[in-house]
Amino acid sequence: MTNTLFVLNGPNLNMLGLREPGIYGSTTLNDIRDMCLEKAASMGWTVDFRQSNHEGVLIDWIHEAREKSRGIIINPAAYTHTSVALQDAIRAVSLPVIEVHLSNIHARESFRHHSYVSPAALGVICGLNAKGYTVAIEALVEHLEKSQA
Ligand code: DQA
Repeated sequence: MTNTLFVLNGPNLNMLGLREPGIYGSTTLNDIRDMCLEKAASMGWTVDFRQSNHEGVLIDWIHEAREKSRGIIINPAAYTHTSVALQDAIRAVSLPVIEVHLSNIHARESFRHHSYVSPAALGVICGLNAKGYTVAIEALVEHLEKSQA
């Protein structure tokens, strides 16, 4: 199995840089992709970085990850708070998953405090902006390398 991680991004994250900059800052999704590729490469890994506005596409990609990656980092965006199907997909593939949010969802509106994804995740990172993605890559690679040693 190749040393590949899937990094999946949910709805509206293609709008980063333009979208509510007071909350999400000026970093674009392309900037985050570049940071992820660089971080993974520095650890000898590769990243397959994707974004979709469609729940079913994200579910198909989680299924695809079973064959093509060793773990998943996912920012499910608004589907975090609504999608039982995403939790079921994660449980179905039994890969380690780290859930990432740019903002601190617990410091925002109460409807963002609950995540359907977190119970199926290895870990959750929120509130560190784009840095959360590279922290997640480091943690997931270390977890995988330790479990295969
Ligand atoms: C988000 C937080 C979600 O509540 C929101 O719906 C998003 C982005 C984040 O990265 O902070 O779209 O996942």
